[in-house]
Amino acid sequence: MKKRVLVTGGAGYIGSATVEELLDSDYEVTVLDSFYWGRHGLDHVADKIKIIEGDMRSSRDLVYALDGQDAVIHLGGIVGDPACKINLKAHHTCNVECVSTLVNCMTDPDLHRVPELIFASSCSVYGNVKGMYDEVTEETPTNPLSYYAAAKLRAEEIIAKKAEEVAAFHPTTLRLTTLFGWAPRQRIDLVTNMFVYKAIRDGGFSVFGGGHQYRSLVHVRDVARALVHTLNQPRYARDRKIFHVGDEGNNMPIKDIAMLVKKHIPEAKIDFPDAGEADRRDYSISCAKIRAVLGFEIKYNVEDGIKDMIENINRTNLQFDPEIHGNAKHPYK
Ligand SMILES: NC(=O)c1ccc[n+]([C@@H]2O[C@H](COP(=O)([O-])OP(=O)(O)OC[C@H]3O[C@@H](n4cnc5c(N)ncnc54)[C@H](O)[C@@H]3O)[C@@H](O)[C@H]2O)c1
Repeated sequence: MKKRVLVTGGAGYIGSATVEELLDSDYEVTVLDSFYWGRHGLDHVADKIKIIEGDMRSSRDLVYALDGQDAVIHLGGIVGDPACKINLKAHHTCNVECVSTLVNCMTDPDLHRVPELIFASSCSVYGNVKGMYDEVTEETPTNPLSYYAAAKLRAEEIIAKKAEEVAAFHPTTLRLTTLFGWAPRQRIDLVTNMFVYKAIRDGGFSVFGGGHQYRSLVHVRDVARALVHTLNQPRYARDRKIFHVGDEGNNMPIKDIAMLVKKHIPEAKIDFPDAGEADRRDYSISCAKIRAVLGFEIKYNVEDGIKDMIENINRTNLQFDPEIHGNAKHPYK
């Protein structure tokens, strides 16, 4: 019998790519999503999956969606600090409180118990550690600098506490680096994607703060592969563990991302204004653990993602709509 997986937030950027990956691995897929960005990310697979429109903050919606599932990939939430600041109550309920509801419903002895959880956390939990550590490993002390990062850490703690209480609950946390690349629900509001978009549509872009801050980057398709790969591993290898997802070869300063975009769009004008507020996150992530323990390796580097974005923006004639291709213009409730 096929294994059944519930993907919360399955209509989003990572979710829409993950659903494809799950179908390729022969899972039976259910998506629970409130469709902030619409359903278009699932249009091409709608006849192959079960889609539930609902709010994962509601225990009623969760209990129905969890019934009969073998595993959950938890991707739903309000993503990125600018989006979280739009409505801090919505942020708290979507990014922290609902994680308690989710793990309670998954482990309640009176309900159908769902043993496996893969949680998408973020490397932003480390904050600005540049100069303190050469590379950040999963054991590096955390120091979240934003509402978003603090909520991700609290969600991890809620999940870990439940695993201490319930022996039959087997979560894995994947701390993702910053994403790039093309997916059925496209986000443009990520640094690499935005540079490519602006180079094509506006003829160039500005890099604030000198572009010296490091980013650790990962292609959305590799994240989808990592989520499903993790689920496919024997339980002893992944149970109650935290893994980074990415590759050291994709650690680079923002100015290098800009130069790679210029390599493929030579006519783009790039300037580096002195003034302007730079994002304070600054770190370089080690992904040795996921390679060694789970045998996961990425397939796509940043240049692959840039080529992929150029091809798809041109093919679809994408015009950036901040309410569809970004997360920071939604009236979160
Ligand atoms: N994109 C990144 O760079 C990145 C990096 C690290 C971690 N992550 C994490 O990965 C996950 C997915 O991110 P994404 O980039 O795909 O974001 P996204 O905004 O594209 O997708 C999130 C999805 O969750 C849904 N959702 C939000 N609140 C909901 C609710 N209350 N009930 C039901 N559905 C709800 C939205 O409708 C959306 O489809 C998030 O947990 C995010 O924190 C993303």
